[in-house]
Amino acid sequence: MSYELIFDVKRGDFETAGEASRKIKHTLQQLGISNKIIRKVSIAGYEGEMNLAIHSSGGKIILEVGEKELILTIEDVGPGIQDLNLAMTEGWSTAGDEVRQMGFGAGMGLPNMKNNADDFEITSKIGEGTKIVMKFLV
Ligand SMILES: Nc1ncnc2c1ncn2[C@@H]1O[C@H](COP(=O)(O)OP(=O)(O)OP(=O)(O)O)[C@@H](O)[C@H]1O
Ligand SMILES: [Mg+2]
Repeated sequence: MSYELIFDVKRGDFETAGEASRKIKHTLQQLGISNKIIRKVSIAGYEGEMNLAIHSSGGKIILEVGEKELILTIEDVGPGIQDLNLAMTEGWSTAGDEVRQMGFGAGMGLPNMKNNADDFEITSKIGEGTKIVMKFLV
């Protein structure tokens, strides 16, 4: 069994943000993945999707479903993250007032993604973009 889904996420698109994670959740339900794993993937997917909409210049989410693991890749085309250690710190956020008024900017998204995934890797280059690869054992 192998399955791949790709979603584009645009910068600032709050109207439809959350849609990719909803579709991922729906797909995993239809594939009969356990609720415990769906929950983790949904949380990580939603945080990643919101980060693309809020912080990136746009990007994509790729879900690969294998027999033993699910791989969720969140990739964007900039602006990149200056200090990954800081970005991974709970409570650290560069979100402005407008974003905070929408309920984001607690600085918990990346730590949440890491905590929910069985494996988490983030790479980033200023001017090029950020890539997060998360694996979930099924
Ligand atoms: N894709 C990205 N591109 C550029 N910067 C990013 C990206 N994702 C996260 N960041 C930076 O890392 C910081 C921490 O991200 P994180 O998701 O943990 O918190 P947040 O998005 O600020 O708040 P929350 O996720 O709790 O709503 C962000 O404030 C932002 O500066
Ligand atoms: Mg976030």
